[in-house]
Amino acid sequence: AVPGLLDSYGRVATDLRISLTDKCNLRCTYCMPAEGLPFLPTPKLMQRDEIVRLARLATERLGVRQVRFTGGEPLLRGDLVDIIRDVSALDARPEVSLTTNAIGLAGRATALADAGLDRVNVSLDSICAETFATITRRPFLTKVLAGIDALGAAGIHHTKINAVLIPGINDTEGPELLEWALAGGHQLRFIEQMPLDADHIWDRDVMITAEEMRRRLSERYDLTPDEAPRDGAPAELYQVRLRGAAADSPSLGTVGIIASVTEAFCEDCRRTRLTAEGAVRSCLFSHVETDLLGPMRAGADDDTVADLWRAAMWAKPSGHGMNQAGFQQPDRPMSAIGG
Ligand code: GTP
Ligand code: 5AD
Ligand code: SF4
Repeated sequence: AVPGLLDSYGRVATDLRISLTDKCNLRCTYCMPAEGLPFLPTPKLMQRDEIVRLARLATERLGVRQVRFTGGEPLLRGDLVDIIRDVSALDARPEVSLTTNAIGLAGRATALADAGLDRVNVSLDSICAETFATITRRPFLTKVLAGIDALGAAGIHHTKINAVLIPGINDTEGPELLEWALAGGHQLRFIEQMPLDADHIWDRDVMITAEEMRRRLSERYDLTPDEAPRDGAPAELYQVRLRGAAADSPSLGTVGIIASVTEAFCEDCRRTRLTAEGAVRSCLFSHVETDLLGPMRAGADDDTVADLWRAAMWAKPSGHGMNQAGFQQPDRPMSAIGG
């Protein structure tokens, strides 16, 4: 039998991303249409015990070491704290993290920390209330900032901030966002927009590329590539110093660039994903999903489910193919795949 989640290109997935819901309380233009989507009825979503069973199987039998909960917006799950407590209590305890928009986090950060949550990444594209509302189509910036503040107070550190740069909307706000993140001790990551929006508005020709991000940042800062090994992480990290500061002066912090489109990291991909409906997606951009929840509900045992998962990952594509002719955007937008 194949050990772990090996694919036919020799990559091994140790990093599991579980979508807990396809619903969200924001409507970011690069992710969801203004009117929302036909959301899944609750019985179709994985229930707490099903999620925990799959996480146990993944960590005990399939070599998964990190579990990240995503959405949609995972804080919309009323049982999020319980799910995190159960997964943190597994014998082969994975690192447990969350990617969230932070709305409602202020009231739950302590409970999540106590349940065992290790790390949080927050999606925040602007700290200007007006720009935030334009991108997310909702006026909730204050709630997001309160959520981020609550993390430190609850003892959750190493929070990362994810910012997708959108041409003509927030792309000139990079320095303002970076200064705010550095002051708060957060690692900000600028992200190249990927073609995963419901409205298919993505346009390669106007996308802000990693190269352009570095060029713009270099107008104010000296960036030194971080020496720590990247280990399959999507972000290229840089130490930040004010432009012209001595190379041996203390760095102000770290900034990351996630160049999914122009400097793809698929060769080193360590990801496997479960959609909110309990299907394996071997890649963000794959066009096939392998249902595990259906077989589980029909009584499949752990061996059978593990074999289905292995087979799904063996068939993982070599990469997203965005830079090749004939590339087709997946039918499902980011919110339905689970970020
Ligand atoms: P850590 O490095 O463990 O902190 O998490 P992460 O950066 O992998 O997770 P996060 O959910 O914060 O995702 C950050 C960004 O990476 C997302 O905004 C996506 O744009 C991008 N991303 C996430 N998963 C994938 C993936 O599988 N493939 C590609 N190409 N990009 C991804
Ligand atoms: N391109 C790049 N990143 C995206 N995200 C959502 N949609 C896209 C897209 N089209 C990011 C969000 C969130 C993370 C899970 O995915 O900013 O932080
Ligand atoms: Fe991995 Fe697919 Fe993302 Fe590339 S696009 S990094 S192969 S999940």
